Amino acid sequence: MTATDPQTRAITPKILYYGMPVILITTRNEDHTTNISPISSSFALGDNIVLGISTSSKAYDNLNLHPECVINLPSAPLWENVERIAPYTGRTVVPEFKEAMGFTHEKDKFAAGGFTPADSEAVQPSRISECPIQIEAQVLRMTVPEYDPFFAIVETRAVRVHAHGDILIGDHHIDPRRWNPLIYNFRHYFGLGDQLGATFRSET
Ligand SMILES: Cc1cc2nc3c(=O)[nH]c(=O)nc-3n(C[C@H](O)[C@H](O)[C@H](O)COP(=O)(O)O)c2cc1C
Repeated sequence: MTATDPQTRAITPKILYYGMPVILITTRNEDHTTNISPISSSFALGDNIVLGISTSSKAYDNLNLHPECVINLPSAPLWENVERIAPYTGRTVVPEFKEAMGFTHEKDKFAAGGFTPADSEAVQPSRISECPIQIEAQVLRMTVPEYDPFFAIVETRAVRVHAHGDILIGDHHIDPRRWNPLIYNFRHYFGLGDQLGATFRSET
């Protein structure tokens, strides 16, 4: 017996970014300055954070040369700063397909986005001061799948975590009632709605 689902229909969506936090990856350029790349493809499990990064990005080039980054998490009010750097790449030669989409080169994305650099403690790329959570990370492995070499699966390990004091409960918990992540939802920016509940393992 088969079951049908009258609520759905099969579609061919142009975009599948189904609501993920925006992160700003900072990586080290050849001249030791820092590049910023907005990313939404990531997940965290324990101290491991896995990123999906396009192989035509400056972030990918930089991570190949220097396998360290900072995973900076902007809060929802920073969406306009993020969008100010969205049309740029740190690559001096802009890939043709990106040029056709309107991307141009910008080396100093801190200035372009109104962001302030802060020195990291355990890695070389700078942190972004305005981001309430900043995770310094080592890249352990980068894999480019042969079935679709347009992106790399970047496996990182968090080595130091910084958080703004006003989103903390004590020294070891982020307060989920005050941390307001920026969500990328089918190419639109959102904050969070009201709290619905907590999981049985919540300590706060
Ligand atoms: C909100 C947002 C989310 C994005 N998510 C990703 C992503 O998950 N992976 C990716 O490779 N590019 C993503 N992009 C596109 C990159 O930011 C874009 O390719 C940029 O030029 C990369 O900068 P870079 O070339 O200086 O590294 C995203 C862009 C925006 C604005």
